[in-house]
This record gives sequence, C-alpha cells and structure tokens, in this order.
Amino acid sequence: MCGIVGYIGNRQACPVLVKGLHRLEYRGYDSAGVALINEKGELNVYKTRGKVQDLENYMESKDVSGTIGIAHTRWATHGEPNNVNAHPHCSNSENLAMIHNGIIENYAVLREMLSRKGYTFKSSTDTEVLVQFIDYIRTTNKLSLPQAVQQALSQVVGAYAIAVIEKNNPNQIVAARKGSPLVIGVGEDEYFLASDATPIVEYTQKVVYVGEEEVVVINRGEELTVRTIANVEKTPEVKTIELSLSELEKGGYPHFMLKEIFEQPRTLANSMKGRVSLDKKHVVLSGFTNNKEKFLGARRIIILACGTSWHAGLIGKYMLEEFARIPVEVEYASEFRYRKPVIYPDDVVVAISQSGETADTLAAVELAKSNGAFIFGICNVVGASIPRNTDSGCYTHVGPEIGVASTKAFTAQVTVLTLLALCIAKEKKTIEEEAYLEIISELAEIPRKMEMILKNNDEIATLSRVFTYAQNFIYLGRGYNYPVALEGALKLKEISYIHAEGYPAAEMKHGPIALITSEMPVVVIATHAGMYEKVISNIQEIKARKGRVISIVTKGDKTVKKMSDFCIEIPETVECLVPLLASVPLQLLAYHIAVQKCCDVDQPRNLAKSVTVE
Ligand code: G6P
Repeated sequence: MCGIVGYIGNRQACPVLVKGLHRLEYRGYDSAGVALINEKGELNVYKTRGKVQDLENYMESKDVSGTIGIAHTRWATHGEPNNVNAHPHCSNSENLAMIHNGIIENYAVLREMLSRKGYTFKSSTDTEVLVQFIDYIRTTNKLSLPQAVQQALSQVVGAYAIAVIEKNNPNQIVAARKGSPLVIGVGEDEYFLASDATPIVEYTQKVVYVGEEEVVVINRGEELTVRTIANVEKTPEVKTIELSLSELEKGGYPHFMLKEIFEQPRTLANSMKGRVSLDKKHVVLSGFTNNKEKFLGARRIIILACGTSWHAGLIGKYMLEEFARIPVEVEYASEFRYRKPVIYPDDVVVAISQSGETADTLAAVELAKSNGAFIFGICNVVGASIPRNTDSGCYTHVGPEIGVASTKAFTAQVTVLTLLALCIAKEKKTIEEEAYLEIISELAEIPRKMEMILKNNDEIATLSRVFTYAQNFIYLGRGYNYPVALEGALKLKEISYIHAEGYPAAEMKHGPIALITSEMPVVVIATHAGMYEKVISNIQEIKARKGRVISIVTKGDKTVKKMSDFCIEIPETVECLVPLLASVPLQLLAYHIAVQKCCDVDQPRNLAKSVTVE
C-alpha cells in the first residue's frame, strides 16, 4: 500500500530511487513521483499518474541531478490517482517535499486549521496536509526540521511512514514511522530508506528497522540519530538481512506470478526444512516447543487473517480441529478488531499474514494481546510488524512474493499450519501414530507431486482459452476442498476480473444453483479424498442444468472425468493435504485466463500486495 524510497550518498539519487520504486511497485502502482535536491540546493519534484515507467518517460528531459532524493509509488486512499494527488507533496513555501505511506486520520481538522492560517491546498490528500503542518510548526516555532517533524507527529492521529527533505539542505532526510513499515539501509557513506528491504538489498545487507513512533535523522556522512516522537533517544540496531537479488527478478518467466507458482515445490520444501525430520518420523516447530503449555492449555484457537491468508486459516481450522481437537474460529481480522469479540486469556491466537504488515491483522493482534491472549504468528516477511508483535511464531520462508495475487505464500501457510496441527496433536495424543506418520511422509512427497502438476501447465493454458470470455465462474468443493474453492475463485477475480464465487458444494442448492446455465463454468474439486461420492451428486445436479464442469480429480479417476467437460488430474494424497495440490491447477487456470485477457497479472487493477491501511 504505497511504496517509499529515499537515498542520500555519493551516487546520483534518481536511478537508485527509480529502481527502488520498480521493486516496490507491487505495493501500489497508480501514480509515482520523485523529489531531488540538486547541487544548487534546488528542489525538483516530478510526479505523474500511472506506473513507474510513466514517471521515467516523463522525467526524460528533466533535471534529475542530485545525490539526495525521495520517491513514491502510490495506491490511492485520499483523492483519485492523478498527477496532483501523486507524491511527493510540497509545502506552500515549496521548501519541503514529503512522501507518505499510510493514512492521517485527523487530516480534515488539521487542513481546516491550516486553511484558516492562510495555507492553500492543491490536492485532496492527507499527505499534503501533513507536510504543510510540518512547515507551519517549523516556521511558527522556528524549529529545526527534525524537531518540527517530531512536534507535528505528536499531534497526528493515524498511520504513517514518511520521509521529508528540504530545499537548500542537500545533507539531510528526516524519516519517521508509526504503523507503516520503514527500513533504513546502511551503506558506506550512504543511506537508503524504503518500505521494505527489496530496494536496498543490491547495495547493502545492513539495515535498521525503524521502530514504532521513531523519528530518524539521516545526515550525509554521519551516524543515524533516532529519537521517539516523545523525544527519547534510541540506539539504532543494525541487522544483516538475507535476501538475494535473484529472488527479486523474474528469472526468465513472463510474470512474477508464474515464477512463484513454479517455485512452489522448492518453497514448500523450504517451509518444511529443519521442521520435518529427515527420517520422516516427527515434526518440530520451535515456536510450538517453546510455548507448549500455551497450546496444550488453550480453550480455543482464534485464527486472524485477511484475503488469501484467511483461506489458509480455514484449512488450518479443519486440521487443528480434526487432529488436535481444539475448537478453532477463523476470523476476518477487519471484523474481529471492531466487533467487541470475547477473548479469554487462555485463547491462543494464530495470526497469518504473508507481508506481516496488514493493518487490520496487526490491529486485531494488538487487541487480542491486550486481552491477554497468547499470539502465534505465521508470516513470510522476516522482521515485519506482525512477527515483531507476536509472542511466538513461525516464518514460512518462501522468499519475496512479488506477484500481487498470493500463491507460494498460501501453500506455505497451509504447510506450516499442518505442522502446527501435527505438533499439538502429537503432544495431546489426539492423533493415531499411524495417521501422524502417514501425513508426515505424504508431506515430504508434496513437492514432487506438485512438480507433476506443473507439467500440465501447457494443457491448462490451452484449457484457459475456452474461458477467456466467461463472465462468471462458480468454484465448488467440500471439506478441505471448500477453502480451496474459495481461494480458486479469489485468484480468478483478482487477476482476470471475471466474477467468481467459491461455495461449499452442498450449499449450491440453497442459492447458486439458480445461476447455472450452459453459460456458467463450474470448477469442482472432486478428489477421491474429500467426500467424493457426495461431490459426484453435486456434479450431477450441475450437469442436469447444463452447466459446464471443469473438475479437479485424483489421477486415474474415471467417474468424474466422464461427467466433466474438462478435467485436470492431480496425484493422490491424504485428505488434509489435498489443498496443497488442488490449489496449483487453480492458480494456473486463473493465471492463463488473465494472460489470455491481456490483464496485468502481477499488478492487477485497484489491488495492492501489502494493505497497510484499514
Ligand atoms: C492483499 C493481497 C492479498 C493478501 C491479503 C492479506 O489483499 O492482495 O494477496 O492475501 O492482502 O495479506 P497478508 O500479507 O496479510 O497475507
């Protein structure tokens, strides 16, 4: 949800900033802009509606010199995406330029106050209000820029990661954060700042994660200074990140999404590495082992998540209830945080988030924590806000997921949830030894079985051509395959803009069946494991109404194949692991339909990868 980048050092800033924006484009891509201070101390601001490439085109004949600058790629919250609302925003005096990721909730009151003082506004953004407010405080109280930022932020309600620069001051960037992520890269005589480490990693592995309500002063050639908004001095902690450049490139694939789908056999193996023993006889999760008593004493488990992570949570519920025999509630974090939920101190909360930055999930975690619940996080991005706010947890270790539609992060979340369910069940003795061992040895086989499914890529691409012009889709599944249906439908609508609904197959007759005509493609997950006979009846109901069935079946299946218009086979596995396999052809189907429709697969309209606003 908006990406911010900054640079100060000996290099020309503009190329560093633009490259950084490209890396962060997954966070928002409706407009982009750059502010640079040149050798003469002049502040040049260039911004435009559209993608980072449009900004590059726009800047072709402009003065982009300067060794200090800030830049932004936007996902609109306040005001439509246009040139004026694009960041950076400047004060009326044109002395200050600022970039911002987040939302200033009391911006309307501040804007009114500033208007009374004679400030005028060009844009509809909350960001312009904040930069003017900083300018107002700076000039009225005759403060330094860091002091003015500190004072202004102490009066601001909302979430932000900001960076401010000032005309005639080419030696300083002031940055701050609350609620939105901000990382500083520490190089040799140079500093970088960004919403995450991806723009930084090719220059330095050393980073400082800016803490909540901290203001960082980055002076050219000097050590960083960090103070809280309340003026408490902090010592910046430099950490080393492990992120390779190749993980941030497409590696020969036309889209990140396809690359990430194809990475799944490897990423899944990574999620299990060191956790599933080599002799395939037991599972170890240190986040569980170190907090065993919390899980064993849990009255219930509450899973909090949004989007695709919520679907993974639903699969987790089925496993935790089946094997660990603990009641599980799966909640949309956005609903949970505002509906006065009952939370007991002996509840265990499992927060699932690929980015670890989703504002609603973070707020829901904080609420549960303040009510005394134990919080276990399942996240992908190391050091993100959610893992930093949990009591314990487990990283999914799939590397950066850049395609906006989540694929490899989803299957990894399901894998980690499987491991968690097995750990608890084993300890509680609620699972038969035979079932426990069978799931572990099947888990170890999943990467190989996924490889087999990926070999059908061309076939699925051919199939996708039949459905390029479909207006609607229904996805059906039962038991463990019901969340798979939800996730399959979500993938399709996210990237191809085709309306798609996921439903529990048996619920079809209570409504969606009215939609079935010969025009309606229905994807049915009808694997042997997973109420096979019952799903066959559902397929018959669809066929009786001339619906077109695309089925996902177990290899060798004949019955469903005969009844289906199109059929995709997946290898056999135990019921609870079918989602890991059945999701893959659905990801590929959505991908190829979107490609056929010439949609922007990696950056679908209106979406963003990391939703740091509520
Ligand atoms: C956005 C993304 C989805 C993601 C959801 C939750 O909507 O586009 O792909 O599932 O946020 O994100 P999280 O990072 O918390 O898993």
